[in-house]
Amino acid sequence: MTFDVHAARAEFPILTRTVNNKPLIYLDSGASAQKPRSVMAAMTAASEHSYANVHRGLHTLANEATDLYEKARETVRRFLNAGSVNEIVFTKGATEAINLVASSFGRGLHPGDEIVLSEMEHHANIVPWHFLREDRGVVLKFVPVLDDGRLDMDAYRALLGPRTRMVAIAHMSNVLGTINPAEEIIAAAHAVGAAVLLDGAQASVHQAVDVAALDVDFYVFSSHKLYGPTGIGVLYGKAERLAALPPYQGGGEMIGEVSLDRITYADPPHRFEAGTPPILEAAGLTAAIEFLESLDRTAVAAHEHALYRRVKEGLSGANWLTELGDHPGKGAIFAFNMQGAHAHDVAQILDQQGIAVRAGTHCAEPLMKRFGVSSSVRASFALYNTLEEADSFVAALERTRTFFA
Ligand SMILES: Cc1ncc(COP(=O)(O)O)c(C=O)c1O
Repeated sequence: MTFDVHAARAEFPILTRTVNNKPLIYLDSGASAQKPRSVMAAMTAASEHSYANVHRGLHTLANEATDLYEKARETVRRFLNAGSVNEIVFTKGATEAINLVASSFGRGLHPGDEIVLSEMEHHANIVPWHFLREDRGVVLKFVPVLDDGRLDMDAYRALLGPRTRMVAIAHMSNVLGTINPAEEIIAAAHAVGAAVLLDGAQASVHQAVDVAALDVDFYVFSSHKLYGPTGIGVLYGKAERLAALPPYQGGGEMIGEVSLDRITYADPPHRFEAGTPPILEAAGLTAAIEFLESLDRTAVAAHEHALYRRVKEGLSGANWLTELGDHPGKGAIFAFNMQGAHAHDVAQILDQQGIAVRAGTHCAEPLMKRFGVSSSVRASFALYNTLEEADSFVAALERTRTFFA
């Protein structure tokens, strides 16, 4: 199999629109990817044909909706190569999945217990752990980031110790594009008896993830970065890890029995899915994963990397632009600052040229501080971007520069 970008691109209707009278060039997929027709069709079909609340019904529509919802769980299990559907918990996104683990796992922690994070984390993988620092007196330790955007793995190993309870680190950075050495991180953490959570919000889109081979304890991602709808995300947890966690939220569907003086809880995954779940979104997520599975993912990854290389080559002489993190093994994200220009102004001028990029801290303030900047511009590439778009982006940056030169 190979990858035909034009065929894949034709599945994304929004990419044919114009912005400010220019063809849209969408380089903000790291924030939210666009959706193929099949995802929207799956959600419409479920709405028009098989919609009711799940799990509770004895009627046909409730059973059909439940089947769709549970099919999504099996689809995610296959996508991550998890051992059982009971290891797949639906959340509203990566953020909620991390909050779930921090909150439930945190209830077993004591003052002085240590959590290891890194300087490149998204706030979603920092703030929930700060809650534990504030509430339970746990100690947060941060793995430093090297100048080229990689983690300082010697420092990482030195941070691990007998009080380390959890290592929570991005599989791929949403700013630097760095793909962290997951196997090495996990093996070292397990050697001191710590659990590992990988934040796969970015990585799960760009590479195949095998939670069994990784031997990771928790893995999280969001559907909307994976060409699926907003409102649904995934927490994978090893069966024994999930079994040991108390519930996160209370409500319908997560209980065993409730009486006035006593409650018992359902087994995972239902223990962690209080209330009505994202039913239509689950149907959309199934379609998004099936879309990805219909492609040669190795060829897709090579295409995405080629987009990044094309931009890098196009800008090779540009001493007016500084990239954040330029390790050669990084993924298809290009974050930078332009000399003499504020990131927001650069993004606005690019928007006038039809190009969508993100500017700001990218919810990674500690990382911005590490690189001595207050913000940056980020272009993130997806499978539907073309080499021509990469060239247009380079040309647009050169034009933008003339505003500030
Ligand atoms: C690395 C990383 N982690 C977590 C998140 C949070 O994802 P969500 O907002 O979908 O919960 C993001 C989103 O940008 C991210 O890039």
